[in-house]
Amino acid sequence: MAIERTFSMIKPDATKRNLTGAITKVFEDNGLRVVASKRVWMSKREAEGFYAVHKERPFFGELVEGMTSGPTVVQVLEGENAILKNREIMGATNPADAAEGTIRKTYALSIGENSVHGSDAPETAAQEISYWFSGTEIVG
Ligand code: CMP
Repeated sequence: MAIERTFSMIKPDATKRNLTGAITKVFEDNGLRVVASKRVWMSKREAEGFYAVHKERPFFGELVEGMTSGPTVVQVLEGENAILKNREIMGATNPADAAEGTIRKTYALSIGENSVHGSDAPETAAQEISYWFSGTEIVG
């Protein structure tokens, strides 16, 4: 299996509840390594740019509002099959559909306040990592 990097966010609903460490521990316990991490308070422009693919969706306004409502921890996670592994660890987008033991099942409040984001494919991982990090900020 290939060593991959994926992009992850611990969203404001989770940082407000002081869950940064608890969620990061789940990544580490599952074999993912945090190779970059910083805490940001997204501007509206940054949130709209990051989620531009969803701009026509009815929930876009709510999404941007939530992502600008408090701090987010943006991270790069590295490990074997990191992109798929992170999606398994996170669980389904809607916590009502998430499997037992996943981060969203354990911590998420709703589909809009679902605690974490993770890249869904190698192309989006590369794009999302470069949206938030320069090469020198990633230390493997
Ligand atoms: P995320 O993985 O960050 O990708 C896009 C986000 O949009 C998603 O998690 C959810 O938080 C949010 N989202 C998706 N569908 C809905 C919805 N129906 N209502 C509110 N938010 C949604």
